[in-house]
Amino acid sequence: MRRIAQQRELQYAIIVALAAAAPLALLGAAGVWWPALFLSAPLIALYCLARVCERDERERLKLLTALSGLLQAAHPQMEGHLHRVAEHGRRAALLLGMPERRAQLVYCAALLHDVGKIGVDERVLNKPGPLTDAEYRHVQRHAEIGAKVMEAAEPLLPMAEWVRHHHERLDGKGYPAGLAGDRIPLESRIIAVVDAYDAMVGGPGDGETRRYRPRKSPQQAMAELRRCAGTQFDPRVVEQFCTLVREETEA
Ligand SMILES: [Fe+2]
Ligand SMILES: [Fe+2]
Repeated sequence: MRRIAQQRELQYAIIVALAAAAPLALLGAAGVWWPALFLSAPLIALYCLARVCERDERERLKLLTALSGLLQAAHPQMEGHLHRVAEHGRRAALLLGMPERRAQLVYCAALLHDVGKIGVDERVLNKPGPLTDAEYRHVQRHAEIGAKVMEAAEPLLPMAEWVRHHHERLDGKGYPAGLAGDRIPLESRIIAVVDAYDAMVGGPGDGETRRYRPRKSPQQAMAELRRCAGTQFDPRVVEQFCTLVREETEA
């Protein structure tokens, strides 16, 4: 991800240099230099703005790496799940028409969607069999804890709300706020779908942690997502995500 940020910075520099060089060359050829000052000032300002954005992105990536490392150290069994949810979230966001930059933020939010589980008792989290009501309420706190952790770090602030609401349901029966329909951020609705899919299907390397939850096939998981579309999940997100899964499984 750091390499992507550096490549983008280089791209900005090249674009600004080319954009500045062309009119300057024309004006220079015509022997007129003073308008070049007026032309170059906004381009330089644009370049500085791009540098600030890139610096923010680097800070975000540092925090993201630190927090996701902390979560993976606390709950090593989650590592594969987090990366799969992040990548699926990014690709689903693109399919839903989000620009690349926004989709990258969805990736970051999805990577940290369960960061609040640092504050959840591991014995409860890994308990085989059903949870008691009190245990379930204890686990539910992770959405609010995660959002609060992210709100404390400026570069992660834009994604805190998405993490807070990743367990809301379209019918308003989710948690922590009981938001319904479009009041749930689209990014949270995306994370909810890809998270549920991964919880059903799993991935390589987490077989040992799934002893008590047999895997579903991608087809079974898609059927379950469709069954819950309109009540638990956003039907548009489910359909776009199923398109993505079909492409993956048929490739
Ligand atoms: Fe969660
Ligand atoms: Fe999850």
